[in-house]
Amino acid sequence: SHVLRSAAYSTATEVKKITVIGSGLMGAGVVQVAAQSGFEVNMVDLKQDFLAKGEKIITSSLKRVAKKKHADDAAAQQRFIDDVMSRVHLSTDSARAASESQLVIEAIVENLKTKQSLFKALDGAAPQETIFVSNTSSLPIGDIASATARKDRFAGLHFFNPVPQMKLVEIIRTAETSDQVFDTLFAVTKKMGKVPVACKDTPGFIVNRLLVPYMMESLRLVERGDASMQDVDTAMKLGAGYPMGPFELMDYVGLDTIKFITDGWYTAGKGLVGDKLIAPSSLLEKHVKAGEFGRKSGKGFYSYE
Ligand code: CAA
Ligand code: NAD
Repeated sequence: SHVLRSAAYSTATEVKKITVIGSGLMGAGVVQVAAQSGFEVNMVDLKQDFLAKGEKIITSSLKRVAKKKHADDAAAQQRFIDDVMSRVHLSTDSARAASESQLVIEAIVENLKTKQSLFKALDGAAPQETIFVSNTSSLPIGDIASATARKDRFAGLHFFNPVPQMKLVEIIRTAETSDQVFDTLFAVTKKMGKVPVACKDTPGFIVNRLLVPYMMESLRLVERGDASMQDVDTAMKLGAGYPMGPFELMDYVGLDTIKFITDGWYTAGKGLVGDKLIAPSSLLEKHVKAGEFGRKSGKGFYSYE
């Protein structure tokens, strides 16, 4: 099927400069991996403060990589970090950044209208051949692409958290995504040292279609009082071999993000994802209302202060 078409017939265009929009958990990770792989990267966010936060995520992660690469050589570690960072360019002007890139990767808040208005603005600013991709966890790629006049040059490129360590990237093609664009994304993903898989534009793609209902079921288990949160986490780590239990993982992903995903699917209805599985959870709502978004805010189901 066209979804599984490999880059064997490659007509890929060459990508030299990538713009990543959003310098949060995911955007910063994508910027790091791209710069480490030799791409020039523009990192864009709304404010200088947010960019500084993203830059900090990258440098502290690079320090760990550098320590492994050059164990007892502090100077070599610093040279490695400086070399990678020399390819990272910070900006608050997304249109300008996009205008000089062959690929734009969007990793902003999980909201359809916000993503559509961003891409609508960029569509007028970027060269015709520039490819647009979204790192959305749950929104239909076709709906985001509909805000632009480049539906053949639009796809999903879904990275996993933490980006520097997770090898997988899902490449999502809509019915309109061209073969050339798919091949280019395949090549870029490989150059980043990641393993690409292809999926059609269906809710949650592969990983989140399976992972999010699992997270929601773990919330119900605890809400019913069947088991404690700690015991659910212990059980899935030691009984199913998961590196993190579901509550630890939700804290890691961000509870706001989990809520955006499930609310979006629930509101969209259509029975695409089992409604009972993704119905609102009072336990999740309670934490999000309190501003407890997980690790990134210092507190979620667990405390990280
Ligand atoms: N940058 C670079 N290197 C890092 C790093 C970072 N930020 N963090 C850790 N490392 C390195 C360490 O140096 C270490 O290297 P060595 O083993 O060679 O010494 C290695 O990575 C492991 O580090 P840790 O011991 O700290 O980590 P761990 O073994 O406990 O694994 C984990 C951490 C990879 C996060 C693991 O717990 C895990 O896989 N958890 C599940 C993550 C997951 O499921 N993610 C997907 C979420 S869903 C999603 O992303 C999709 C969505 O749309 C919501
Ligand atoms: P985050 O909240 O950590 O970061 C989002 C960043 O985008 C913030 O720094 C924010 O200031 C910035 N931003 C918001 N609107 C913007 C705009 N119009 N222009 C420029 N910057 C803007 O979020 P995140 O966890 O990095 O998630 C980003 C995207 O990646 C979401 O679509 C999410 O669903 C998806 N995703 C998240 C995970 C995860 O585990 N957290 C995994 C895969 C995919």
